[in-house]
This record gives sequence, C-alpha cells and structure tokens, in this order.
Amino acid sequence: MSKICVVGTGYVGLVTGTCFADLGNQVTCLDVDHERIDKLNHGEMPIYEPGLEQLVSQNVRSGRLFFATDYQEALKEAEYAFIAVGTPSGNDGEADLQYVRAAAEAIADTVDWPIIVINKSTVPVGTGDWVAEVIQQRRGDHPLEFSVVSNPEFLREGSAISDFMNPDRVVLGSLQKEAAQKVANLYQPLRCTIMITDLRTAEMIKYASNAFLATRISFINEIANMCEALGADVNEVARGMGYDKRIGPSFLDAGLGWGGSCFPKDVKALEHMAVLHGTQPQLLQAVMEINRNQRRRAVMKLRKALGSLNDKTIGVLGLAFKPNTDDIRESPALEIIHLLQNEGAHIKAYDPQAMENAARVVQKVELCDNPYQVAENADGLLLATHWNEFKQLDFARIYQIMKHPILLDGRNLWDAEQLKSLGFKYMGVGRAVNGTFHEEE
Ligand code: UDX
Repeated sequence: MSKICVVGTGYVGLVTGTCFADLGNQVTCLDVDHERIDKLNHGEMPIYEPGLEQLVSQNVRSGRLFFATDYQEALKEAEYAFIAVGTPSGNDGEADLQYVRAAAEAIADTVDWPIIVINKSTVPVGTGDWVAEVIQQRRGDHPLEFSVVSNPEFLREGSAISDFMNPDRVVLGSLQKEAAQKVANLYQPLRCTIMITDLRTAEMIKYASNAFLATRISFINEIANMCEALGADVNEVARGMGYDKRIGPSFLDAGLGWGGSCFPKDVKALEHMAVLHGTQPQLLQAVMEINRNQRRRAVMKLRKALGSLNDKTIGVLGLAFKPNTDDIRESPALEIIHLLQNEGAHIKAYDPQAMENAARVVQKVELCDNPYQVAENADGLLLATHWNEFKQLDFARIYQIMKHPILLDGRNLWDAEQLKSLGFKYMGVGRAVNGTFHEEE
C-alpha cells in the first residue's frame, strides 16, 4: 500500500486517484475548487463517467480515498504526487502550463521528505525538465530530494475506468530509472505492459499517439468525402481496410470529425512545438483542416437539401463530443449549431447527458427533453452524437412530426435503406446510399 496524492480532480485526476485507491493505495485527491471538493465529499460527481460514482463511494467507504483542498492535508506522508491538472490551449495552440506550475510550487512548498512527482497531465515535450527546475528554484537553499516521472494517460472519456484498469500499456519516463521503477510498482496489480523510457520520449509518446489517432480519423473522413463523389461506401471501405493487421479496424469511423478535450488541444500543441522548433508539421495541419471541413460539409449538405437554411428549423440529436460523456468541449455538434445559426437557422437540441453543460454555452437554442420534441416541426434532423438511445428511434413517428423528412446521419448510426423505405431523404457521411454527392461549386 502506498500513499498517493493526486492534484486535480478532472476527467483524468479523479479517475486516476479513484483507481489507485481501488488497487489498495491510500489516495487523497486535491483540488483548489472548493465547491468541487465539497460535492465529492458529499458523494456528488463533478463529471459524468460511467461507473465512477460507485467506484468513488466504494473507496471512500473503505477508507482509502479522500478529497481535500489543503495541500498540507493532501500531501501528508505522500510518497507520490501526481499532477493531473488541466493544460488548456493558449491562443497560438501552445499548452498553458500555469496550473502545472502552481501544483509543482505547492508541492515544493509543502513537502520535506523524498517524493516522486509524476506528470499525468498531457504536457509539451520538455516539461518534465521544467517541472524539476520549478521545484528546485522554489526550494532555493533548502533542496528537496525528489524525482520527476512522466506518466501520460491514455484514458478515453466514457470508458476511463476500464481504460485505466485494462491499459494497452503504461508509459513511464524519467532521468531517474529507479523513480520510474517505483511508479511502475504502483501499476503492477494491472499485470500490463509497462514501458520505461526517458522523460521527453514519454511525453512525445502521448502527443504522437493522440495525433496519430486524430490522423486516422481525418484520413477516413477524407476517404468518406471521396466515396460521396465516387459512389463508394466508406463503412465498407473501412471494414475492408481493417482486415489488414497493419491497419486494424478501430478509429476508422467516418463522421463529423474529432472533438473533445484532448485531440484538438494535443494536435494543436504538437503543431506549435514543431513550428517553434523549426520543423514543418504539414500532415498535422492537413489533419486539422480536414477536421474543420467535416463540420462545414455537414452544414453544406443540409443547405443543399433544404435550398436555404434561413428561417429553417434544424433538430440536433446529441451535443456531447461523443457518446457516454457529458463533455461538450470542441464538440462538433456545437460548432455545427453555430454555423447553422449564422445562416439563419433555428435550432432545437437534446442530449442524454450534456444538457446542463450545453445550456451554459449555447445561445438561442431550444433545449428539448427528448428526441421527438427535437424532431417536431423540424425541416431537417442532424444526428451529431451517436448515443445508443438514438439508434432505435420510432422513425415512423418522426416522419409524421417533421415538417420535411430530411435526415443527416452525422455518425452513420442509422440504417439508410430502412429510412429511405420510410420516405426519408437520408444523408450520411461517405455513404453511397444517395448516389454521388459533390461539394457545391
Ligand atoms: C482520446 C484518446 O482516445 C485517449 O487515448 C486520450 O487519452 C484522450 O483523447 P477521448 O478524446 O476521450 O480520448 O475520445 P475518443 O474516443 O478518442 O474520441 C475522440 C474523438 O474522435 C471524438 O470526437 C470521437 O467522436 C471521434 N472519433 C473517434 C471519430 O470521429 N471516429 C473514430 O473512429 C473514433
């Protein structure tokens, strides 16, 4: 059993701390947001993550998991301090490290015993060295015995607990191999592949992994757009590609592109790092442009189908950036809503989990209680997030209540043939179902 402090109780910190507690360690999760910690101490989750509420309450009840706002309390006798705070994008895409700095300085101010500081946050290559400098400078004439280890997370929102407990690999990087080995011991119960390398390499593995996944998605979206022009079906293309072991079937789902709190931020940060250090990230720049273009193409399809978007009512199913999360950051749905409104469309929308978060950011959107209220009197209906509950809707009823039976299936969730037989004009992404489709001249 080890004593662990986790700084930051967001999507990464809260899951990481809770899972380490579940592995038998004593964990205190710290956040400077008193309201968030107060909620957690009353069993209220600040985020929607399947299974998290139960896992938190189990470990709090077992006396392994605690929540605090005070560093003295949170770091008491801690052998490990995980920094899991946000690293939001700055204006030019550079990762903003102010919260990492604040955490590192607070650790330096509080700890007077040997400790291992672990960067769990996604941080630019070289940040591990910088964190060490921040701590050393902060300590001045009272040096602290510490090591810095990079331990990037690969959790997906909506499956974060399962991703933590069943990782494809744990990546650890440090200039002090024995420190990395000690952190590796924390993951031993998972019986997974543990890779130990140097600090900068570990930091780069994280960015390269996310950028590659984003590239796969932009690649299949570009192929989808070609399929629309050439009359092929991208779902079948992806299936045929995926049988090749070198390609594999995952992350080849064409749609509205990638959003979320990671891919957009991490791809931009990697591009910024590249340019700052004199290399040209042409591929990453194309990957981001293709992603932006997917949103624009969705609006174009609706405009073409309706003649004009001005004064039309468009229903939007799904607001979260993907299913099984309430996170709306960089959600394609929100960007498309903005583009539609710019052309005079009226928007109705519903999401199973993200309504509260969405209500804080959308303007002049009629927020509905269910998919049918969204479809009522709509001139067009966009599926933006492929929640399971949208898969088996009563389409005969939807056909009756829409003003025009026009569907844009932004995630290729629905059965095109079934919907066409009901009389809908069905549009998907990269589907041959409507014959060929050409971008407007
Ligand atoms: C991602 C990485 O998967 C994870 O390893 C990392 O730690 C954090 O960033 P996340 O952003 O939670 O996780 O979601 P993910 O499931 O990767 O999806 C990211 C975006 O890509 C979503 O908007 C999703 O809709 C989209 N996506 C995903 C596609 O458009 N097509 C796909 O085939 C897969």
